Order: sequence, then C-alpha cells, then structure tokens
Amino acid sequence: MVRYEVPNVNEHMSFLEMLDVLNESLIAKGEDPVAFDHDCREGICGMCGFMINGKAHGGFKGTTVCQLHMRKFKDGDELYLEPWRARAFPVIKDLAVNRVSFDRIIAAGGFITAPTGSAPDGNAIQVPKRDADLAMDAAACIGCGACVAACPNAAAALFVGAKISHLGHLPQGQVERDRRALAMVQQMNREGFANCTNIGECEAACPKQIKLEVIAFNNHDYIKAAFTERPETAVAGEG
Ligand code: SF4
Ligand code: FES
Repeated sequence: MVRYEVPNVNEHMSFLEMLDVLNESLIAKGEDPVAFDHDCREGICGMCGFMINGKAHGGFKGTTVCQLHMRKFKDGDELYLEPWRARAFPVIKDLAVNRVSFDRIIAAGGFITAPTGSAPDGNAIQVPKRDADLAMDAAACIGCGACVAACPNAAAALFVGAKISHLGHLPQGQVERDRRALAMVQQMNREGFANCTNIGECEAACPKQIKLEVIAFNNHDYIKAAFTERPETAVAGEG
C-alpha cells in the first residue's frame, strides 16, 4: 500500500475526479499516477471499479465508483483502495485489472445469431410484458466485475446469470438457449471462476442491483441443457 494525501477535495467531486486531482499532483511532481480504469463516468460502461475500504465500488447501494461523490465521506477519512481480487482478473497495475475473461465468456455464447440489415419493426415479435421486464432487468448488467470481487469464491455466477437471463427471456434468444448456457458456463469454469455457494455478496455489491434469481435461471438452463439434451457434455459440479 502507498499512502497519498489529497488536500484539495470538495464534496461535489466524484471519486474518480478525486483520483484525477491526485494524479495531476503526482505527475507534476514527476511521480507515477495511480492507474485505474474508467470510460463513460456515467455508470453505464462497466469500466470503473475497485475496492474502497474492502467494499466493491465503495459499498453504496446501486452506485459505481464513477457515480460516487466525495460528500459520502468525511474530511480526514482514510480510504484503502485495492483492485478487484480474483484469479481470473489479473492485476495490470495499481487499481486496473484485466477482465478479458468476461469478454471470452460473452464470445462463447452471450449473443443471438441474427442476420444484419435494416432494423426489424419494433412490434414484429411480441414479448409478454413480464418477460420484457425480466430481460430488461438482467440487461442492466454492465460487466464491471464487482460481483466477482465481492464473492468469497470469486464466482462469476451473477454476471453469467444476468447475460443468460437477459437473452433467455426473449423470443429471439430461444433458438440458441441450450447451447448458450452450456458454452458460457463451461467458459466460466475454464477462466478460473469458482461456483456459486449462495452467499449473496454479489447481489449486495452489484451497482446495477442484479438479483440472485438470475443465477437460478442460469442453473435451470445449464442443468436442462447439460443433463437432458447433451449428457455427454455434462461435468459434475459445473453451473
Ligand atoms: S452482475 Fe452487477 S456486479 Fe456483476 S458484472 Fe454485472 S453489473 Fe457488475
Ligand atoms: S466509468 Fe463507465 S461505469 Fe464507471
């Protein structure tokens, strides 16, 4: 750990703006800035994220670090910042970790195969309201990785469950539903993420408030696909 003092912080700054101020002063002194990931700074891209005092994104409900403001802290507070800790998220530098393992899980099956071309009519495929709501709730996942960092097992079940639940609730996602669940869970295991043991830290840490129910949806789809339709691909303990 390295100790920095940041004297010129005001309550309107976001947490990342506070780090910008720190980094400007470090650069002016010829020192290395603190590395951290960010992009949109609006809570929608999923690039930001690290532990603040042992809590993913600082532990404030439904809040990414880019949307966390310094008024949530008191003048003189000591804050301990650490990167996500998980074997599947190797540290690049300081607070930045490599989350390409998430990209490989998506590439394994987190999509629908559809012809490109002009946009289809919005009402061409009707979706029941309840399914549309459940799909939209799951689609809120921004892939930040806080769920993995918060989980004592470093499980990616909430992330994978959100992606499988998103597409699995829509008519367009039905054709590849079994293959998707198999491929994504198997890739999750290959990446070194552990399994869910129902602790629930992921749900508590998720800045998009993804619910544990997506893991049940994922388990249903995986078990149905692996043990019923393609038993030769089933691996005990997966999912
Ligand atoms: S489920 Fe939540 S915590 Fe996990 S990657 Fe998605 S948005 Fe981040
Ligand atoms: S920088 Fe995009 S979600 Fe925080």
